[in-house]
Amino acid sequence: MRISPYGLRAIRVGVLAWLLTTVLVVGFGATPHADAASTMQTHGALQRHEQLGIIAHRGAAALAPENTLAAMQIAFAQGVEFVETDVHLTADKVPVLMHDPTLDRTTAGSGPVASHTLAQVQALEAGSWFDPEFAGEPVPTLDAFLTDLKAANVRALIELKGEWGVADLAATSQLLRDRGMVNRVALQSFELDTLTGLAELAPEFARIMLTREWDRGTVALAAELQVSAVGARAALLDERPELIAEIQRVGIGVLVYTLNSTRTWNEAVTRGVDLVITDDPIAFATWRESSGDPPAELPPQQ
Ligand code: G3P
Ligand code: CA
Repeated sequence: MRISPYGLRAIRVGVLAWLLTTVLVVGFGATPHADAASTMQTHGALQRHEQLGIIAHRGAAALAPENTLAAMQIAFAQGVEFVETDVHLTADKVPVLMHDPTLDRTTAGSGPVASHTLAQVQALEAGSWFDPEFAGEPVPTLDAFLTDLKAANVRALIELKGEWGVADLAATSQLLRDRGMVNRVALQSFELDTLTGLAELAPEFARIMLTREWDRGTVALAAELQVSAVGARAALLDERPELIAEIQRVGIGVLVYTLNSTRTWNEAVTRGVDLVITDDPIAFATWRESSGDPPAELPPQQ
């Protein structure tokens, strides 16, 4: 019997999932079995299945003000696999959805998020810069976002922006636990310290290593950090495409940000990417449906 490259990969992922589950349950004795199983579900969701998966960037950044609940609702309605969002802490240490470290670009305020209290941030309007139609949209707390996420039955990639201390990581991961999010979110960062801190403080959550550059060392680092996926900048698709299969061979998914055209979506299929991060989940879903995006065989592995 001939097993297709996708079949072989599924077997490898299954074995890796079993190994990771064992590490989580045995290595972190306090981790309940249910959490470990949930982690595996999120880990599995970060691998390609029948079709190239959709991750809606900042909600649906091309269609609504980024990182607002209005943007999230557009993505939820499209039936995406994941929404992506960014989190900063306010001066009083409340996680809020915001990409930039400052308020200037996407709200009526100015200055660092970290020097404003939650009450000050929530008093700001965060929609009309995008379109008057969205006037009055507030900056959501992470907690409010989680309520909508749960109701929508969608998963999320939550990017922890900037530097996070141990106490901040512990508090935010506890919030996610309290909201029953182990099976619903993966935590991602460009910062090595954040990823290692999460591995220590919140090992039951799937983690994603974001990178703007990659080489062989990236594959080794991702494996060492035991992340579920690597999130790579779009240009890396062309710069070192062979690394995609190398990362996947060790059971780690490859996500690419931010692809917004049919040319790049087709290229992602050809290159064997697992999921794509896009600002326009509606156009992506329409393309995926019409192109059929067949589960094509991956190129033979060298
Ligand atoms: O998910 C990866 C991507 O969001 C990273 O870039 O700047 O949009 O947060 P950025
Ligand atoms: Ca992001």
